[in-house]
Order: sequence, then C-alpha cells, then structure tokens
Amino acid sequence: MKRGKGLTFVGDSRVQKYDKPKLNRDYSEFPGRTEEFYPDFLLKEWVTGAVFLIGILCLVVAHPAPLERVADPTDTGYIPLPDWYFLFLYQILKYTYASGPFNVIGAIVIPGIAFTALLLAPWLDNKKDRHWKRRPIASGLMLASVAIIFYTTWESVAYHDWEQQNQQGEIVFSNLDADDPVFNELIRTNCTSCHGGELAGGSGPGLIEPDYNPETVEAFVRNGVGEMPAFEGTLTDDEIVAISEFVADLEIVSADEADNVPESEE
Ligand code: HEC
Repeated sequence: MKRGKGLTFVGDSRVQKYDKPKLNRDYSEFPGRTEEFYPDFLLKEWVTGAVFLIGILCLVVAHPAPLERVADPTDTGYIPLPDWYFLFLYQILKYTYASGPFNVIGAIVIPGIAFTALLLAPWLDNKKDRHWKRRPIASGLMLASVAIIFYTTWESVAYHDWEQQNQQGEIVFSNLDADDPVFNELIRTNCTSCHGGELAGGSGPGLIEPDYNPETVEAFVRNGVGEMPAFEGTLTDDEIVAISEFVADLEIVSADEADNVPESEE
C-alpha cells in the first residue's frame, strides 16, 4: 500500500491492519505443530483417560474400600474419624484451647481466619513481583501453613488409638435378632449408646463374644460397673430379666448364619 493513498477503515486507528487475516488460520499452515481434533487429538485424550481409569481400577481391586458395620445413630460410643486430608483440622480440635468449652475457636475461628486470609490473599498481597523470594511474607505464610498442616496430620496419626478405631467399626456376625422387641424396645434405648448398635462394642465392651449366663448379665445391669450406671429401679425386674436373657443368648456365628450381614456382602 502506498503512503497516503487508499485509506482502510479498521474501526480503531490504533489497530494495525494486516494483509493476511490472523485468526482462523487453517492448522495445515503449521505442519508438525498441530493436529486434527478428530481423530488425532481425541484419540490421545481417550488413551490418557483410559490409562488413569485402569490405574484406578487396579488400585481399587488391590485395596478394597474398608467396610465397617452398619451405621447406627443410637451408638454414641462410635467415634468417627475424618479421612486423612482432614486430619489436620481434626487434630486442632484436640488442643486445650480449641476444644471443650473453646470448641468454637477450633471449629470456626482458626479455620475461618486461615480460609479468609487465603481468600483475601490477592488483595492483601498485590506486589508486581512474582518470584517467591521477593515476596517473603506470602511465601513465609505459605511455608508456615504447609508445615502446620504436615505436623498436625502427623500428630493425629501418631497419637490416634488405631486398635480401638478398627475394633469399633468391625463387622461382628452374631445371632442378634434386630426385630426382637426386647432389642428394639429395651436394649436400643438403654444399652446400645455405650455397647454399640449391634452390641459388638462401643465406649463399653462388646457383649457378644463373652459367654455369659443370664445371672451374670443381670448382676451387671442391676448394679452397674465402672462407667456403667445401675439399672435397678430404672428398669422393672421383668425388663432386666428379659434384657439379660437376650444378651446371654448372643454369640458369634459364621457369616452365612448371621442376620446382620450388610447387604453388600450377602
Ligand atoms: C453409660 C454407658 C453404658 C450403658 C448405658 C450400659 N453400659 Fe454396660 N458397660 C459399660 C461400661 C463402660 C462397661 C465396662 C465397665 C468396666 O469394666 O469397668 C460395661 C460393662 C457391661 C457388662 C460387663 C462386661 C464384662 O464382660 O465385663 C455387661 C454385661 C453390660 N455392661 C451390659 C449392659 C446392658 C445389658 C446394658 C443396657 C441395659 C448396659 N450395659 C448399659 C457402659 C454402659
């Protein structure tokens, strides 16, 4: 184009006019640097996806998800444990000034401050520099958070009572008949909160395995023991006898004979 001749209107005088349109050029102009969406690109995506899918399937087969016994809301002895990626939050709740009467601090205030700071980070730290060494406050805080998360996760794993943890969710096959009125009306309201939803143990010991006779159970129920309250007076004699006979009858059975098999295992 010769100077001064043939004006071309491009809408905005600051935008240069290109002879060749820049956009929507055909991929064939870049041999070796691009490819067709179908089938080349999609095929690669599918192969990558399939590799991950098969990998996950293999992991699932090698390490099946742990099954615990059926959840029971009346079993207050069951202490749920969060998955590993939340253990650091769980651990914070165990510190003296973040638990008990200070629960709000551990459950809301501390995580609240941390997550609010994370949300506000782009506004609090608006330096132009991107290198982490020239942003000591941001980098320092991030390293400190990572260190705290690592430490608290480690601490909660190291100090957790894993034996009790595995025992509390263990599936115990028993002849317990969950439709029996004695179980539904008396034991569910008086005993499962401590001895577990299927009496296999909670904060109190499991009652299935020991080979009691009814009189032994009756003595425990009437008089209480340790943390367990005495039920003499709270329950009638008939109720205590019925409960004791029911508990004394309990025994471990093989999975085939049990009533309480989770449906997924049947
Ligand atoms: C407040 C929680 C709690 C409740 C409710 C409770 N127990 Fe217990 N029970 C315990 C604890 C804890 C022990 C273990 C005490 C110890 O050995 O110091 C125990 C022990 C027992 C034992 C003796 C276990 C052994 O072999 O030493 C029997 C049997 C028993 N409970 C039956 C029952 C029955 C039946 C009921 C319902 C009527 C019941 N418990 C309600 C907490 C409870």
